[in-house]
Amino acid sequence: MLEEVVEALKIRPGGVYVDGTFGRGGHTQAILSQLGPEGSMVAFDRDPDAIRAGRDVFAMESRLKLVHRPFSELAQGCHEAGFDQGDGIFFDLGVSSPQLDTPSRGFSFINDGPLDMRMDPGQGEPASAWLARVEAGELADVLFRFGDERYARRIARAIVKEREVKAIETTDQLAALVSKVIPHHEKSKHPATRTFQAIRIKVNDELGQLERVLPQAVRWLRPGGRLVVLSFHSLEHRRVKKFIRQEVRGDDFPIEIPVLQSQLHPRLKSLKSRRPSKEEVANNPRSRSATLHFAEAMGDGNA
Ligand SMILES: C[S@@+](CC[C@H](N)C(=O)[O-])C[C@H]1O[C@@H](n2cnc3c(N)ncnc32)[C@H](O)[C@@H]1O
Repeated sequence: MLEEVVEALKIRPGGVYVDGTFGRGGHTQAILSQLGPEGSMVAFDRDPDAIRAGRDVFAMESRLKLVHRPFSELAQGCHEAGFDQGDGIFFDLGVSSPQLDTPSRGFSFINDGPLDMRMDPGQGEPASAWLARVEAGELADVLFRFGDERYARRIARAIVKEREVKAIETTDQLAALVSKVIPHHEKSKHPATRTFQAIRIKVNDELGQLERVLPQAVRWLRPGGRLVVLSFHSLEHRRVKKFIRQEVRGDDFPIEIPVLQSQLHPRLKSLKSRRPSKEEVANNPRSRSATLHFAEAMGDGNA
């Protein structure tokens, strides 16, 4: 959805833009191509490999600042890059193809590797360490809530039993264990897909990151600036939609206090969300579950 993202950002050639999820810079490149020489970009990624690759590929690009930080530190990262306001912010949530395709990162149930799954291997604990200490109840809860896994309890029990015999340290070990425990395998979906997704979301606190960044993003935008989010599963869709709805409505007042519409100070104007076209899904299967959300910042009090 490269074109749709660029269109949704309504890029001003001299503006300042943030890509919160640089990855390998596909969207950053598309945004830069619409910026004039006086425009600027700040791109974040918490993955040191992404930043390293970006510094190589974009070495000659003086309009771009690459920041190795989680996007939950957006305001501080932008401030240090010299920008306390800007015209557009974009997030392409989830993991990148290089992360999935590099066995040593531990995201993949297809290729064997250490069970890590951290987007920033320098922060937090690897999935194997979390699995070694988590209680069965909490594990089942994570699998159910973040993976929509109907066999969550069964898988959690099997993991806890297995780790008493042997630590679960590789992606193959976990994938094989889950495959053995799940009674019905879905067609064209690896039985461990949901388990891996849930553990990845937990280990990287992906929903916490999203909840912390959205209010910062809105405060950072100038009036007329755009917030654009590409999300891939219902937990993200729901949070983004709820946040935009709240910001469109404006400040919350207790029900018993009568307020005028003009006293609510909405911070966002809702625009539509979009789903990928059939052709896009055929060309890029990852886009099948994508939703592009976008909204525009209001000026203070110009509701
Ligand atoms: C789907 S990929 C982005 C792909 C990118 N749009 C491109 O065109 O190459 C998501 C990227 O965002 C990064 N990421 C995910 N959550 C993050 C967070 N909370 N803070 C910073 N980076 C994050 C991941 O490390 C990954 O590199």
